[in-house]
Amino acid sequence: MVWLLSPYVFICICMVQARKWNNTGKGSIVLEEAWTIPEFVAQASVSVPPPGQTTAQLEANLLDIHNQRLAAMDLHGIDFMVLSCAAPCIQGISDPNTAATFATKVNDELASAIANNTMRFGGFASLSMHDPAAAAKELNRTVFEHGFLGALLNDYQQSGPDNTTLLYYDQPEYDVFWSMAETLDVPVYLHPRFPIAQITALEYAHSPFILGPVNEFQVTLSNHILGIIANGVFDRFPRLKFIVGHLGERIPSDLVRIDEHISRQKSRGLPMLKNASDYWRSNIFETTSGNFATPLLKFHADAIGLDRILFSIDYPFETISEGTNWLDTIPLSAKDKLRLAREGAIELLKLNH
Ligand SMILES: *[C@@H]1O[C@H](CO)[C@@H](O)[C@H](O)[C@H]1NC(C)=O
Ligand SMILES: *[C@@H]1O[C@H](CO)[C@@H](O)[C@H](O)[C@H]1NC(C)=O
Ligand SMILES: *[C@@H]1O[C@H](CO)[C@@H](O)[C@H](O)[C@H]1NC(C)=O
Ligand SMILES: *[C@@H]1O[C@H](CO)[C@@H](O)[C@H](O)[C@H]1NC(C)=O
Ligand SMILES: *[C@@H]1O[C@H](CO)[C@@H](O)[C@H](O)[C@H]1NC(C)=O
Repeated sequence: MVWLLSPYVFICICMVQARKWNNTGKGSIVLEEAWTIPEFVAQASVSVPPPGQTTAQLEANLLDIHNQRLAAMDLHGIDFMVLSCAAPCIQGISDPNTAATFATKVNDELASAIANNTMRFGGFASLSMHDPAAAAKELNRTVFEHGFLGALLNDYQQSGPDNTTLLYYDQPEYDVFWSMAETLDVPVYLHPRFPIAQITALEYAHSPFILGPVNEFQVTLSNHILGIIANGVFDRFPRLKFIVGHLGERIPSDLVRIDEHISRQKSRGLPMLKNASDYWRSNIFETTSGNFATPLLKFHADAIGLDRILFSIDYPFETISEGTNWLDTIPLSAKDKLRLAREGAIELLKLNH
């Protein structure tokens, strides 16, 4: 980047390389799609696989990029997929040094795995969140060196000798990280994770069936998302772009109640300056990953606007055909469907820049 200084104007000659990607067709773009390295595949495949699949198949799908994944993308009209490391990935590593080393390794391996087909694949960075300044630096490195499109964080960073120090990115020390994401103008995706063992024992021993996407993902992650909202992150970083999956982790259905009861706390030192619902129209985007429910999509289009909703699948925890078959059935105008399936992502990820 070269700055030419004159008394009157600052001109930035930005050497932004035009991104090569498959924009030949009108296919869809998906952005909450999991991949992992062999070291993490066992922890990533504790989820129940899609019907008819074994855990071994789920693991093979998590490790694959260029074979069955790409074949399914071709078959179902997906032009471009953004890959990220399946949960918990780095957020499941309590030791800061190990976490930082693995974050770099995951990012470099993903970059090299997709380097020969950036027409079809992009990446979100994995970051160790033990050290917010180092996370900011690694995000910048992956954007500059690897052309990554943002970051995906798997909820809180576990930490401490027994894993029970949970780091939430709504604290002021993370401002250095949010500032970097805002400066780079790349989105940060907050994705759920399975809880540390102690939380599982306390809250889910009575019914382990409600862990994960049944209930625990939404409950746990919505606390983190609302913490980021309430603690004023979007007031301090008004241009920050933030993505949540699974149709908003249930928050939009509660925005009336949230607004009412959070606004009652303004006199109690609430850092947030607007209503919670406002940030869902200015900073937050949501995807349809793993939540293929047309009535709910309609409700969300009313509550926060269809222009803030992006199609995604959550492959390989859901099948690509299930996602795209659902997309085909949604009763939207051709223009709105193109926006949902493709154009919203092009704009948010700046794919045409
Ligand atoms: C672009 O994506 C479509 C699927 O929508 C695929 O059939 C086509 O081969 C892709 N083109 C390139 C150049 O990768
Ligand atoms: C990229 O490399 C992988 C692994 O070597 C290979 O399977 C795939 O066919 C390559 N893709 C392209 C487009 O060259
Ligand atoms: C990001 O990294 C680039 C390349 O190393 C550097 O020029 C730039 O100053 C960094 N940006 C920030 C905000 O630190
Ligand atoms: C802490 O987490 C690691 C990795 O998730 C696990 O191997 C270890 O057993 C955990 N320790 C405790 C005390 O739960
Ligand atoms: C926030 O929501 C409350 C409750 O709905 C409402 O009374 C108030 O006017 C709203 N404030 C702003 C700034 O929109």
